[in-house]
Amino acid sequence: MRGKRVVMALCGILAVTLWSTAGWAGPESDPLKPRVPDAERGDARKMKSPIAVTPEILAKGKELYEGKGTCANCHHPEGTGDGAGGMLLTPGPRNFTNCKFHKKRNDGELFWIVKNGSPGTGMPALVKGNIITEEEAWQIIAYERTFCKDE
Ligand code: HEC
Repeated sequence: MRGKRVVMALCGILAVTLWSTAGWAGPESDPLKPRVPDAERGDARKMKSPIAVTPEILAKGKELYEGKGTCANCHHPEGTGDGAGGMLLTPGPRNFTNCKFHKKRNDGELFWIVKNGSPGTGMPALVKGNIITEEEAWQIIAYERTFCKDE
């Protein structure tokens, strides 16, 4: 009986070890290089958010980011890009706490990616896939901007 327990304990340690190595998500793609395909980027950058950012909109965006939108699963509730659902993806999910990333991207580019996904990566097409509406995407984007703290 004692031997069996030792084996089980060792299996537990092994499982935890494997689980922690599975936590090494691939590095994110260069946050300063555009991700909207060249042919689409000009039009994407012309899109303007139709919503005015208010505390209510940010609260709605947070709720959607953490809930229905599923964003937090991969991008982490704190926006750090290392959520459990993104652990095995290469490139890894974007880290939204990086202010340099926010400065490089306008709202239209972020919207294009949330709508269509990022081609060739694990970033899903959340509007086209009917997970969220266009209006909800704009609300989430307004909230996503708040992860950059030094402004
Ligand atoms: C299944 C995991 C997953 C989910 C769920 C997910 N993302 Fe992503 N996301 C990624 C990955 C992976 C990338 C990196 C793609 C790349 O490098 O092009 C990414 C990149 C992004 C980018 C950056 C694109 C750029 O211009 O660099 C934005 C914005 C984004 N996601 C927004 C969201 C929003 C908003 C949600 C929820 C509505 C969401 N994501 C849900 C995995 C996910």
